[in-house]
Amino acid sequence: MYMGPTFITLEGPDGSGKSTQAALLAERLRQIGMPVVLTREPGGTSVGRKLREILLDPDIQLSVMAEVLLMAADRAQHVQEVIKPALKNNMVVICDRYVDSSLAYQGFGLLGDISKVRAINEAAVDGLWPDLTILLDVEPELGLLRNRQAASGAEKPQCTGQSHGLDRIEQRNLEFHQRVRDGYHVLTKLYAPRFVVIDTTGLAVETVARKVWEVVAQRLGIEHG
Ligand code: TYD
Repeated sequence: MYMGPTFITLEGPDGSGKSTQAALLAERLRQIGMPVVLTREPGGTSVGRKLREILLDPDIQLSVMAEVLLMAADRAQHVQEVIKPALKNNMVVICDRYVDSSLAYQGFGLLGDISKVRAINEAAVDGLWPDLTILLDVEPELGLLRNRQAASGAEKPQCTGQSHGLDRIEQRNLEFHQRVRDGYHVLTKLYAPRFVVIDTTGLAVETVARKVWEVVAQRLGIEHG
């Protein structure tokens, strides 16, 4: 039995395959007649798409606090304009990155501590925390390699002048990405009840999709596998 509105977020280091999995999950839920909104951060609204351009442009220099606040501004707009109205309409919302991305990337990755980022984001999310967060885990080296290969095949339109086709955040050094990855693991302990971790190392897209589906079907109370 479907349990009512549910807010599901997908998280993970760069190149963990979240966007592909978010799309597959949305499609599968729609196939069984579930009303679904698939969205993402940064860039889930028209204001957010402008913020995303700034946030990911390798030619723009942003201070750490400006980056924290622009991510939070994108989120505040997204919560009010898209996510809360959809949940109010009894839809399942699947969001490709949300507050945990700010805690992991800006908190653990840049500041080495999440307290400021958490305080700012408490204002941005306005009480709306995910019901379920799926962390698609991958070693940063592997994730960045996947993204580099993808970027050399198709230039990402939102970015200009990037090195190896990577955006402003992906371009940061491996130590940064390692802190992000380790930070996600700390978050799974801090917010244990809403987190499920799926290790994607060496797994085919379909295998990860099956694991994601099992978690979501169980959480939503859907019987057919
Ligand atoms: P994403 O759209 O997932 O990357 P892509 O589609 O290019 O693989 O996210 C863009 C980048 O923004 C990613 O490197 C993570 C980063 N990010 C943060 O640093 N903080 C945040 O709060 C969010 C939402 C994203």
